[in-house]
Amino acid sequence: MQTITTLAQLRPAIATLREQGRVALVPTMGALHEGHLTLVRAARAAAPNVVVSIFVNPRQFGAGEDLDAYPRQMERDAGLLEAEGAALLWAPPPGEVYPEGYATNISVAGVSEGLCGADRPGHFDGVATVVCKLFNQVMPDMALFGEKDWQQLAVIRRMARDLDLTRPAVEAIRGVPIVREADGLAMSSRNAYLSAEQRVQAAALPRTMREAIAALGQGAEPAHALAELRDALRNAGFSQVDYAELRDADTLAARDPDDGTDRGNVRLFVAARIGTTRLIDNMALG
Ligand code: PAF
Repeated sequence: MQTITTLAQLRPAIATLREQGRVALVPTMGALHEGHLTLVRAARAAAPNVVVSIFVNPRQFGAGEDLDAYPRQMERDAGLLEAEGAALLWAPPPGEVYPEGYATNISVAGVSEGLCGADRPGHFDGVATVVCKLFNQVMPDMALFGEKDWQQLAVIRRMARDLDLTRPAVEAIRGVPIVREADGLAMSSRNAYLSAEQRVQAAALPRTMREAIAALGQGAEPAHALAELRDALRNAGFSQVDYAELRDADTLAARDPDDGTDRGNVRLFVAARIGTTRLIDNMALG
């Protein structure tokens, strides 16, 4: 596996890979866990050349968020990627991605509003901007993202459609199902912030979500089921519930599961905090 840190080196390296076959990109911010490695394996199954980017993107962190604390483990990550058979690690420093005078922002309306977009102003602008740059830098045939960040995936797909991106085309932006720990907690680099006690409490997130979905399936009124979910999370030790909402899987518009249309396309989205750690999760109702 080659590790490349400058655009000048990246361009010929990508050109060589492209001569050998299709290129799949897995964008990450590092601190890799089994969820990321699942993306890399899915990419390997789909294309002979897998490029993984590791870049802790400052533009997607708000003031007071965890940019400085975000775990950085480049050597360990590179070893994991090498073992998974990635062809190239693209690990630029911030100045290579946002050189002096950088001034362009990509803002995606609609799908980036509400949910995490409401709690983290500017976050999805930062994501859309860096992902667009990564697509232009690597020019992959396909790109893979985890479905834990469902709203992020919707923002990226919208951006690719709106900007007529052809590499990767909208159809080649793939979501990969959430990878969970044995107790159901969705894998996330931020789980590393949890103390041992908080880690046990955190399992209440997927558990109470499954309970709410079961209650909805038995005819519970949505507002009641969501209020119960919020209470259950607080009782389990979560200090704050940022949102617990039912939304359309594609448009992310608010949905009532009993609105007579396809219930299978409704998802439950939750963000909640244990101490200062913010966890997100989402599950299909159907
Ligand atoms: O999901 C992430 O790790 C990041 O938001 C991404 C897509 C790599 C952009 O920085």
